Amino acid sequence: MNLITIDGPAGSGKGTIAKQLSEVLKLNYLDSGAIYRILGLHLIENNIPIDNEDLIKKSIEKANIQFSGHKISLNNRDVTDEIRTESIAKIASLIAANKTVRESILDLQRSFLKKPGLVAEGRDMGTVVFPEAKNKFFLTASVQERADRRYKQLISKGFDVSILDLVVEIQERDFRDINRTISPLVPAANAVIIDTTKLSPSQVVEFILGNI
Ligand code: DC
Repeated sequence: MNLITIDGPAGSGKGTIAKQLSEVLKLNYLDSGAIYRILGLHLIENNIPIDNEDLIKKSIEKANIQFSGHKISLNNRDVTDEIRTESIAKIASLIAANKTVRESILDLQRSFLKKPGLVAEGRDMGTVVFPEAKNKFFLTASVQERADRRYKQLISKGFDVSILDLVVEIQERDFRDINRTISPLVPAANAVIIDTTKLSPSQVVEFILGNI
């Protein structure tokens, strides 16, 4: 089956590129970061401390997460836009360091691999979730460029954010994602690394299409 993994840090363009590729190639699409964000929202709303492994495990089992096209729901409530804030991203990155959390969503992530194939984006798609993938890409970009992209994205969704705060938040999140012991953000040995700082989304998509 056609399986493409796109990993990289916050704001590297993974989301835009993976969505466009899945549309051009008519493949399924997995936004794995959205799952961590939904769990973050779920834990906040239920006052569950991020270090209480037992409670987290039980609460994840009860959470009903559904993807329908590009809409995402938690317990039948549309949370597509709500999970996009940097405060939810921070909680997502914190709980993503937890082994129980990562293991409990492995099956959910792998269930997206269905005919005719999948474009999966995140931090560990090519290393842990789909190590068997033949087409692995790792996107990077300068911190300034990534903060600029996030700024435009969030402003267009109506969020009030500051570019300086975004630079700091992105750097903190990079540090946590790269330095955690379980499934850290790292390119798979056989991933093609693409620096997207000076590339448009369509240039990146063209490059990937030329590579697979
Ligand atoms: O891709 P994103 O910014 O929506 O991801 C939010 C956080 O979730 C990210 O900072 C780390 C975590 N994450 C992860 O650990 N593994 C993934 N495959 C995807 C996201």
